Amino acid sequence: MINVGLAGIGFMGWIHWLAYQKVPGIRVTAIASQSPKKRAGDWRSIQGNFGPPGEQVDLTGIKTSKNIDQMLADPNIDMVDITLPPALHTDVALKALKAGKHVFCEKPLALTTADCQKMIRAAQRADRMILVGHVLPFFPEYKWALKAIESGKYGKLKGGSFRRVISDPSWLKNYWSAKHVGGPMLDLHVHDTHFIRLACGEPTAVTTRGRMRKNLAEFWHSFLEFKDRNLVVETTSGTTPQQGRAFEHGFEIHLEQATLMFNFAVIGGEGKYMCPPTLLNNRGKALEPKLAGGDPLESFQAEIREVAKSIKTGQVSEVLDAALARDAIVLCQKQTESMEKNRRVTIGH
Ligand SMILES: NC(=O)c1ccc[n+]([C@@H]2O[C@H](COP(=O)([O-])OP(=O)(O)OC[C@H]3O[C@@H](n4cnc5c(N)ncnc54)[C@H](O)[C@@H]3O)[C@@H](O)[C@H]2O)c1
Repeated sequence: MINVGLAGIGFMGWIHWLAYQKVPGIRVTAIASQSPKKRAGDWRSIQGNFGPPGEQVDLTGIKTSKNIDQMLADPNIDMVDITLPPALHTDVALKALKAGKHVFCEKPLALTTADCQKMIRAAQRADRMILVGHVLPFFPEYKWALKAIESGKYGKLKGGSFRRVISDPSWLKNYWSAKHVGGPMLDLHVHDTHFIRLACGEPTAVTTRGRMRKNLAEFWHSFLEFKDRNLVVETTSGTTPQQGRAFEHGFEIHLEQATLMFNFAVIGGEGKYMCPPTLLNNRGKALEPKLAGGDPLESFQAEIREVAKSIKTGQVSEVLDAALARDAIVLCQKQTESMEKNRRVTIGH
């Protein structure tokens, strides 16, 4: 049994908590929250953009700590799950690794590449794992696309375009602060940079044009280059100034023998497929696969199952790998740099 200490009881803390209840071999045995109400199990104030609202939770048998250091001193905890705001990820991960715990950290791994590197090196030194909660590859549509690409069944990957757009989340504290959240580049688009890195490999250069808000990217289009000059990848992401565009994500992926299409949006308060997952084949047929797991909570359960498997087997899952999560941050930073400098920027470690 893997014993988990959950740090930060907000929206993601709640979603992870729900997911742990459904995954065998791993369980939450401790939580850290500054809120006395939450330490008493009253999580009813929690709200997010998917999943059920927070509830009164039975914390019988769960150790509760006001501060994270106290939780880290618990010798029975094997792994610390960090569902804290991004600005706290590095410090807490470093402390947890020093305390001999594995770490599972929500995206974005950190707000700077240097911090990502620090975390990766600390995990190596401590001989512990640092896994990153990039859930998108566990979403059925993205899982389907990844499988189609990796199977080779439809030939070589030739390119793709990826979209992720939301309205300005003006109600979120610190969203537009580079020190705290990093705006839509690190909060939102990092999902796609991680997926692109996973599905397409390492970009070698990027050209981005768009709108800045002070020192942060607000809305942009990017063209990514790869060692294979015939691989053509573009992405669009960021926030719209008006409030109606609650959420949109999707892709069009080109393989030698098939095109994969998908787009989902929340329009007028209702989430719907603008284009259901569709495979266009060489014979001009449009095939719509029936994908299991439409509930986002199931994707988080799959993610936690992968966490448990990594820790049990000692083999870091490719999807949760911190080096990949670091590369996703690098690609975000390079896009902002390209916008700021108004030129093509190369990428290399
Ligand atoms: N994978 C996804 O789809 C997804 C969705 C939303 C958020 N996230 C990520 O999850 C992380 C958390 O985001 P969230 O939306 O849950 O934020 P949130 O603000 O809802 O939750 C964070 C919680 O941490 C608590 N906290 C802050 N400082 C603390 C401290 N020192 N000790 C203990 N608790 C402390 C806050 O009080 C809050 O309850 C972020 O990295 C975010 O990017 C991922």
